[in-house]
Amino acid sequence: MKEKKASFTATLMAYYRAYHAMHETPKIFDDFLAHRLVKEEERASIENQIAESLKLFDSARAASCLDRATALRWMMREALAAPSLILGRSRYSEDSLENSVLQGVQQYVILGAGMDTFAFRRPEMLEKLQVFEVDHPATQAVKFHRLAQAGWEQPEQLHFVPVDFEKESLAEALMRSPYDPKIPGFFSWLGVTYYLTRDAIFATLRAIAGISPPGGTVVFDYMDTDAFVPGRVARRVDMIQKSARQMGEPMITGFDPPSLTAELASIGLRLHEDLSPADIQERYFRGRTDGYRACEHAHFAWALVE
Ligand SMILES: C[S@@+](CC[C@H](N)C(=O)[O-])C[C@H]1O[C@@H](n2cnc3c(N)ncnc32)[C@H](O)[C@@H]1O
Repeated sequence: MKEKKASFTATLMAYYRAYHAMHETPKIFDDFLAHRLVKEEERASIENQIAESLKLFDSARAASCLDRATALRWMMREALAAPSLILGRSRYSEDSLENSVLQGVQQYVILGAGMDTFAFRRPEMLEKLQVFEVDHPATQAVKFHRLAQAGWEQPEQLHFVPVDFEKESLAEALMRSPYDPKIPGFFSWLGVTYYLTRDAIFATLRAIAGISPPGGTVVFDYMDTDAFVPGRVARRVDMIQKSARQMGEPMITGFDPPSLTAELASIGLRLHEDLSPADIQERYFRGRTDGYRACEHAHFAWALVE
């Protein structure tokens, strides 16, 4: 992420969740508050760019497309992989969290939280959970401003933990907050691994293993290595990569799924579940006919501290 600049992708992710919540049925993930964290001019600019990009993606369809809303809907459902990826991984993470809360987990750490709305959207869960939003201070500053504009009061169970992962460790940052390393935590780490180096990814996963007793959990999404091989990468994922590069947040790292179990074991994590695109399709997109479908190359992983 560029020095001192808030993540634009965090706003874009919120836009995708907002669009789905407001326009689509059935919902893959219902973030009915997301639209409150996207400014009106950002929404208009994002929608304009997405609708315009139909010309590049499918010029014949663009020529026959009568209005912008139709172009936007087709891009969101059929052409772009990012909306399906973001909705699927948020759903997976919160489904896994609910399962962990039933097992007694009391701390939820959202790494690279961006415009996540969990603490405001799920007040009933705060009876059982302390929530820690860990993010770059520049992104958090933007979020504070938007929360204030929305008039939302910070619940006492929500703790903001500013950190620049390139300069400071997760453990150091969390130790400045009320996070308790003696009880298991549930860590979600969504939409971040592919932007980091392998060393940085493993440093963070090692840190999670180091500040959680056995039973601690981490859920993250990752791209397989084919996503980075020209000729093998799916068109939709190639498009995500190109636009990430243009936004100054290039995607650089993927994992080989068959090796992940051993790689995680070497740092004290047991891979409990690794959903492939086919698994994700079956679990969250089965029966849909509107074009939303699992993102090629993207996996959702759930690991436990041993
Ligand atoms: C693509 S957004 C994902 C946001 C959110 N997890 C979601 O799914 O909507 C990436 C997030 O990682 C954070 N991030 C990127 N580089 C970072 C760094 N060096 N230190 C801390 N956070 C960083 C950004 O601030 C942003 O919130």
